[in-house]
Amino acid sequence: AGPCDIYDSGGTPCVAAHSTTRALYGSYTGPLYQVKRGSDGATIDIAPLSAGGVANAASQDTFCAGTTCLISIIYDQSGRKNHLTQAPPGGFKGPEANGYDNLASAVGAPVTLNGKKAYGVFVSPGTGYRNNAPNGIATGDAAEGMYAVFDGTHFNSGCCFDYGNAETNNLDTGNGHMEALYFGTNSAWGSGAGSGPWIMADLENGLFSGANPKNNGGDPSITHRFLTSVLKGGPNKWAIRGGNAASGSLSTFYDGARPNASGYNPMKKEGAIILGIGGDNSVSAQGTFYEGVMTSGYPSDSTENAVQADIVAAGYATAPLTSGPTLSVGSSVSLRAITACCTARYLAHSGSTVNTQIVSGSSSSNLKRQATWTVRSGLGNSNCVSFESLDSPGSYIRHYDFVLQLNANDGSKAFAEDATFCPQTGLGQSSLGTTSSVRAWGYPTRFFRHYANVTYVASNGGVHEFDAASLFNDDASWVVGAGFA
Ligand code: AHR
Ligand code: AHR
Repeated sequence: AGPCDIYDSGGTPCVAAHSTTRALYGSYTGPLYQVKRGSDGATIDIAPLSAGGVANAASQDTFCAGTTCLISIIYDQSGRKNHLTQAPPGGFKGPEANGYDNLASAVGAPVTLNGKKAYGVFVSPGTGYRNNAPNGIATGDAAEGMYAVFDGTHFNSGCCFDYGNAETNNLDTGNGHMEALYFGTNSAWGSGAGSGPWIMADLENGLFSGANPKNNGGDPSITHRFLTSVLKGGPNKWAIRGGNAASGSLSTFYDGARPNASGYNPMKKEGAIILGIGGDNSVSAQGTFYEGVMTSGYPSDSTENAVQADIVAAGYATAPLTSGPTLSVGSSVSLRAITACCTARYLAHSGSTVNTQIVSGSSSSNLKRQATWTVRSGLGNSNCVSFESLDSPGSYIRHYDFVLQLNANDGSKAFAEDATFCPQTGLGQSSLGTTSSVRAWGYPTRFFRHYANVTYVASNGGVHEFDAASLFNDDASWVVGAGFA
């Protein structure tokens, strides 16, 4: 049995069931998600290995070998065709052509479930999915429940990393027009105990943690690496629950009346489904989604407790974020370009500009030092790395507006994350040696790429000039060797 079999038994069936990691019904054998590859735009559906089982990640890896892949559809397993696809513009525009949001990288959130590899949905700022033509999702004041498994260590304070019920027209249509799980540190509306992140309810024009529309000490800061978050709402009642998705049980953080603010009782839910964005397509938030469902009817606590036991039994665990040649922490390295134009060039810097420069054994010692990097444990995630400049200790390569820069570490969360990169098996091949591509941890569709000898984190075929698909694999691949100095 899976979570949706449990909700069925409880009389509150799933009306949407989304997961890129596993089937959510014991008998489900259909597609979980679709990926689209950068090399030719072809797509493939990824299905469970067996009925009710874990996603066939190997079929994705084979299909995406030597190129980039995006998650283009997250299928609804409930049979109601409530699939999630690239979100369109609304009150706010996304970064892609015509104001659409970005699609997530297919490789940003690797995990294992009971030892079997799978991939979650890594939402960077700008990424969003939506369904505006839902079938069977609660509207008006009708009761519903939902849960999602998130990465409790991946969040920010932007609006709004949400999963759940939202407007059908991508606009803020007023208080009570949404009912979605929120996860993060946004405190512009409500907040909980400590400094967050918190599980809250996005009910439109407000993130709520209890009856008080502002702070409620009963909603704890919660950072489990795998986080179960639960929200349910019916006529003048609602609840927030949560716990560790890898062990133990759920706790109830709020259970009571609708917030003490006008417009939220009765609710005016519209029944569209969002993932990674606010109801009006606010696109500033980040987070990671592994699985989630929405139900018809108000699930009992005991039904949710049984779902939590099923999630724990699924055996979520971390998987490596890196692959290919190891970049050892503490080592001194150079990164050589492999594109035919540029094989004499290495990743270097001139002041705060990060670029490629022609470097050889006979170069000046200054230039050699400018092209030598000390590998550090990733400032924003210790499973990846950061690159400290040999000649400017305390300064690291970071991206800003997707341009690489050399900046002093200011100690902020944003700097740490912008300076964290995950080396992986190179996208392009070279006779110069084994290659690596260097993925931006926080924007896993993006890789170190040289373009006109300046360096960026670029996405394959994205909207910037430096994202050009032509020569992408070669420009985004490097031979990592010993440092020059
Ligand atoms: O309720 C918080 C946010 O406010 C909603 O997600 C968005 O639609 C509005 O900007
Ligand atoms: O490089 C992309 C983003 O640009 C960085 O994350 C942020 O610091 C800046 O706004």
